[in-house]
Amino acid sequence: MIKKGIILSGGMGTRMSPLTKAVNKQLLPIYDKPLIFYPLSILMLAKIKDILIIVNKGQLNQYKKILPDGKRLGINIAFKEQESPKGLPDAFILGEKFIKNQNVALILGDNFFYGQYLTQKLIDCTKMKKGATVLLHKVSKPELYGVAKINKKNKITLIKEKPKKKFSDLAITGLYFFDSKVVEYSKKLKPSKRNELEITDLLKIYMKKKALKADFIGRGGAWLDTGSIEDFYKTSAFVSAIENRQGFKIACLEEISLLNGWISKKNILEAISFYGKCEYSQYLNKLINT
Ligand code: DAU
Repeated sequence: MIKKGIILSGGMGTRMSPLTKAVNKQLLPIYDKPLIFYPLSILMLAKIKDILIIVNKGQLNQYKKILPDGKRLGINIAFKEQESPKGLPDAFILGEKFIKNQNVALILGDNFFYGQYLTQKLIDCTKMKKGATVLLHKVSKPELYGVAKINKKNKITLIKEKPKKKFSDLAITGLYFFDSKVVEYSKKLKPSKRNELEITDLLKIYMKKKALKADFIGRGGAWLDTGSIEDFYKTSAFVSAIENRQGFKIACLEEISLLNGWISKKNILEAISFYGKCEYSQYLNKLINT
């Protein structure tokens, strides 16, 4: 079972400068809420209540303004600062005390997931006991991501980070499920040519031990990596289109908590007074009055 999750929400912010000079990318808006709400909602949909958010140095106070502590959401949120972006597996080294020898999920703070059967898939993934699971998704530009090749039995046979030569169009999305060995394996990794610990090197360790499982978001699901300004706006447009057409919100944290039975009407009222008079509060108000 996986009951703990880490959101890696630091990074240099160079790709989106000057937008990210003063504010971390994950605090910028994707349509009507900060980007960080979306990966956090994914962990909550997976019924994960114990969450560590890793932020870059100097940004902690900004995060605490929007996510003061998890109580209002019925979850536990802890924060940890990353000195510098040493690579994704650094999350497990920094998070060793939080992980406490248990299985753990990792989601990248800039990844957006949406899909009809996603919640069930997430819950299935958390049932994992040993090894690691990744979610793959077909993309038109695999050279921008970590990429996996699979055989007829859906077993991963090859993994490469941002391959120059195309060998598969299956990107490894930024949501990973690991067993407790992940801390030990992460500590063994050596920095790559770009001087980072690579998540793909970590996954290769599991692959070599025949302990890496592939799952798929599938055609009905969307996965967007908000790595560039263009992707940021495309993701905003996607959220706006769905929310305005269907009248419900994607990644409304309080709504997910309420549906999970983690909070009550009282907490929703607290949230409304926290956010103040705004469209998000109106939505929350409707939740408890319909
Ligand atoms: O989005 C999925 C892709 O994410 C995977 O397919 C790749 O295998 C994986 O390496 C990663 O690629 P990116 O080039 O998108 O990673 P990036 O450096 O942009 O980092 C992803 C997020 O994690 C970003 O929001 C910043 C944060 N981050 C990154 C590093 C390296 C940290 O908080 N700390 C870090 O040390």
